[in-house]
This record gives sequence, structure tokens and C-alpha cells, in this order.
Amino acid sequence: MRLPYLPLAALLLQPSLSAPSFTGEPDSTGKYWLFAEGITASFIPYGASISNLIITDKHGIDRDIVTGFDNASYYSIDPVHAHFGGVPGRYANRIKNSTFTLDNEEHHILPNEHPTPSHPAGVNTLHGGPNGWDYRNFTVVSYTQSSITFSLIDPDGSEGFPGEVISYITYTLSNNKTWDAKMVAIPTTKKTPIMLSSHTYWNLDGFANNETTTALNHTLWLPYSGQTVAVDSILIPTGDILPAPKGSVNDFWSSPKQIGEGFALPEIDGNCGGDCTGYDNCWLVNRPHPYDWRSEEKLVARLESNWSGIRLDIWSDQEAFQMYSCNGMNGSMPLKTTQGIFDDEENFPRTIPQYGCVVLEVQDWIDGINHPEWGRGSKQIFEPGGDPYVLQVRHRFSVDDA
Ligand SMILES: *[C@@H]1O[C@H](CO)[C@@H](O)[C@H](O)[C@H]1NC(C)=O
Ligand SMILES: *[C@@H]1O[C@H](CO)[C@@H](O)[C@H](O)[C@H]1NC(C)=O
Ligand SMILES: *[C@@H]1O[C@H](CO)[C@@H](O)[C@H](O)[C@H]1NC(C)=O
Ligand SMILES: *[C@@H]1O[C@H](CO)[C@@H](O)[C@H](O)[C@H]1NC(C)=O
Ligand SMILES: *[C@@H]1O[C@H](CO)[C@@H](O)[C@H](O)[C@H]1NC(C)=O
Ligand SMILES: *[C@@H]1O[C@H](CO)[C@@H](O)[C@H](O)[C@H]1NC(C)=O
Ligand SMILES: *[C@@H]1O[C@H](CO)[C@@H](O)[C@H](O)[C@H]1NC(C)=O
Ligand SMILES: *[C@@H]1O[C@H](CO)[C@@H](O)[C@H](O)[C@H]1NC(C)=O
Repeated sequence: MRLPYLPLAALLLQPSLSAPSFTGEPDSTGKYWLFAEGITASFIPYGASISNLIITDKHGIDRDIVTGFDNASYYSIDPVHAHFGGVPGRYANRIKNSTFTLDNEEHHILPNEHPTPSHPAGVNTLHGGPNGWDYRNFTVVSYTQSSITFSLIDPDGSEGFPGEVISYITYTLSNNKTWDAKMVAIPTTKKTPIMLSSHTYWNLDGFANNETTTALNHTLWLPYSGQTVAVDSILIPTGDILPAPKGSVNDFWSSPKQIGEGFALPEIDGNCGGDCTGYDNCWLVNRPHPYDWRSEEKLVARLESNWSGIRLDIWSDQEAFQMYSCNGMNGSMPLKTTQGIFDDEENFPRTIPQYGCVVLEVQDWIDGINHPEWGRGSKQIFEPGGDPYVLQVRHRFSVDDA
């Protein structure tokens, strides 16, 4: 079994991070490590978050390719709360005016984004509210060498949502460098909206690329995503579905493309909301029904870095996909001691720069609860005794050593 790679300086700074093998307990930093051939990862109860993911790159060096912190306790202290690697819930992404209607009853939930003088808490809800699921410690209900299950009981009225919801989040590592996630959520008392996601930030070079500090040279392919959800200046869906014509800024379907390539087009300005340059967009995933989401050719997304040779392929049962190019990062978040370059602070600061990472989120059509005309009800509204909410996503890594 491979040890997670730690540069010497990291060992000196953080001797306890080298989790060598399965112990059945979290390590001294509060992380639960999982192991399979060619892949090692750690998870924490806070937000049921992924905290480290280690793959050996084409140079034979282990890279930790997700953002996070060095210890589980810092996640609840960090004032920024960038949703590093967690499960946003009970309703991921944005809800217009923090309002939705179920069976003719209007529900108002807690806002937490875009404060104004008249709405100091915000004018919309992002990722389930100010105490959404990824602000809470889940309970570990099962833990083996290659799998962990977290559970959360979200009480009736939490953040303003109706009814209790019980959820189980299971992460499994398997051979062929695969990380699977299965999320199940069950309403026990009232009808309620549910939409989850996995909010993982990627830098497939482990922030150790000595040619660039950003992830703009990562190549992205979204083979089934020729349409986007139109949004207003604060990223709230307008109801329109737009084409992403070949060659346009949001075209990642016609062929794989470096994320930075679209920055040459004027439409990149404002593409992620007012005063925002980059990506924070939702693409639809249009696979003709019925389909087997696990089949090779139904790939939802592929992200690849030529520098490390690490490629990530994503399959999912979800029918929308959000990509965020870390426009809001500004060098204030620290890298982990398992990441980055240690001996050239001037050119390679040990922080996450703007565009230094890419968030990939499988989910359903965003704010679908406020757009009944889209017909997403059966995927977003659940009631006791009915089908449970289920999200499945498979991440498979491979290394191109060419
Ligand atoms: C926990 O992690 C944070 C962020 O990475 C770091 O600032 C802090 O020093 C760490 N604390 C301990 C006790 O290692
Ligand atoms: C979550 O658990 C950590 C221990 O790993 C603890 O330090 C922290 O205070 C807890 N946070 C919350 C929000 O309960
Ligand atoms: C917006 O929210 C406010 C307060 O929560 C509510 O009074 C109003 O009806 C909502 N407007 C719409 C159009 O839903
Ligand atoms: C393992 O992954 C590679 C690359 O993603 C793929 O080509 C191959 O078919 C997979 N093998 C198995 C047994 O799934
Ligand atoms: C950049 O990193 C690669 C991969 O680790 C290494 O082979 C190369 O020597 C490095 N270049 C410089 C200038 O440090
Ligand atoms: C990296 O991205 C920049 C900007 O898009 C581009 O000019 C450059 O050619 C890319 N480098 C590589 C090695 O692909
Ligand atoms: C990938 O990087 C290698 C050097 O490691 C270079 O020879 C090759 O041309 C690059 N390929 C692409 C598609 O940029
Ligand atoms: C950088 O981002 C952090 C977190 O969003 C924010 O608190 C800080 O004010 C920003 N700094 C600058 C210089 O913009």
C-alpha cells in the first residue's frame, strides 16, 4: 500500500498527516482515510466532506488534487466557508428570493447570499441556507478500509424547510482508481424539496504545477451539455434555457477545450454574473432516455491536466452540471501541507489564487422548484412514503504518461 506523498517540509509541519493504513479510527487530525489500489482519500464528518484525494501523477509523484484544510477542526472555524468538498443541502445551489411554493403554500427559507441595505441577510438562498448541511457535522455510521457512510438528521423547520429529512452519504474507493458517492435522503414527516451535490474543488496538479499557478490549462469536456440555464446578474435562473453554440464561450461539448481558452472571448465578462469574469454556470446533461448512467459512453464530464497527466472522468445519474472556475478565490485560502511548491514562495505562494481550481457539481436543474414548466418535480420534490431522493456519481482517475 502506498503512503500518501508528503514533501519533507510537510512532514515537519504536519507529522500526523501520514495516515499509513486503515485503523478503524480517524487520524489525529480528525480525518477518516480510505484506501484502494492507486487511490487514497480522506473524509471528515463536517459536511460529509472529502478532504484529501491522492493519485500518483505521470512523473510518479503523489498529488493531493482536492482543496481542503489540514485538520477536521478548522472547517468549522474558517470564516469564509467556501464549501470545500462538502454536500450542500437540503437544496444545493440558489433559490430565488428564498421562496418556493408547494401545494399552494408559499415557503420562506433563510437567505444567505447577496445582502442589500433592505435585505441585510441576503436576497436569495445558496446551498441550503446559513446553516446548510455542509456547515454541520454528520455522524459516521459505518467505516471500513474502502468505504464510509455518514448520516444527518435535518429537523423539521431547519432553515425554514418543511419536514424532517434523514440522509445517508456513502463514499467508496475501488480498484481502477475509482471514487463512488451515493447520496440518499428520505423525508419522514412532510413534502419537501431536496437537491444535493458534491461540491469538490479540483486542481489536478495538486497546486504543484511549476509552469502556472492556475487551473486554466486544465481541459474540460462535457459531451452531453449543449445547453445552459440562463441566469440573471446574481446567478438566479430566469427560466430560459440557452444553446451553447459551437465555438461559443460555454461550448465544452463539441470537443475538449482548455478552461482558459474561453477567456479570449468578450462574452467571458459577465458570464458568471455581473462584474464576474469566468465560469459559474449550469449546463444541462441531455442523454436520450432511457440510459444507463454507468455505461462508458454516457460520460458526463472529463477534466484533464496535461502537466500531471491526471484525468478525471465523471459518470452520474444527475441531469445537470455546474462548473465554477474559482473566480472568487484571491490568494487568501491556504494550501494544505500536502500540496503546492515549498521552495519558491515568491512565484508560487502557498495559497489558492483566482482561477486556481475548478469545482464540478453534478446536480439537478438549478432552482427547478421555482420552474414547474421544466417538469423537474419528480427529481426535486419528495414526500413521506414516496421514492427517496438518490444521487449517484462515479469519479474515475487515470494517468496519461505521454
Ligand atoms: C488546522 O488547519 C488549519 C488550516 O489548514 C491551520 O491553519 C491550523 O494551523 C491547523 N491546526 C492544527 C492544530 O494543526
Ligand atoms: C465538528 O467536529 C469538529 C471535530 O472534528 C469540532 O471541532 C467542531 O467544533 C464541530 N463543528 C460543529 C459545527 O459541530
Ligand atoms: C419574496 O420574499 C418575500 C419575503 O420573504 C415575500 O414576501 C414575497 O412574496 C416574495 N416574492 C416573490 C415574488 O416570491
Ligand atoms: C479502468 O479505467 C480505464 C481508464 O479510465 C478504462 O479504460 C478501463 O476500461 C477501466 N478498466 C476496468 C476494468 O474498468
Ligand atoms: C517542474 O516539475 C516537473 C515535474 O515534477 C519536473 O520534472 C521539472 O524538473 C520541474 N521544472 C522546474 C523548472 O523545476
Ligand atoms: C495555457 O493557457 C494559456 C491561456 O489559455 C495558453 O496561452 C497556453 O498556451 C496554455 N499552455 C499550454 C501548455 O497548454
Ligand atoms: C503535454 O505535455 C508534454 C510534456 O510533458 C508535451 O510534450 C505535450 O506536447 C503536451 N500535450 C499537449 C496536448 O499539450
Ligand atoms: C479575499 O477573499 C476573502 C474571502 O472571500 C475576503 O474576505 C477578502 O476580503 C478578499 N481580499 C481581497 C483583497 O479582496
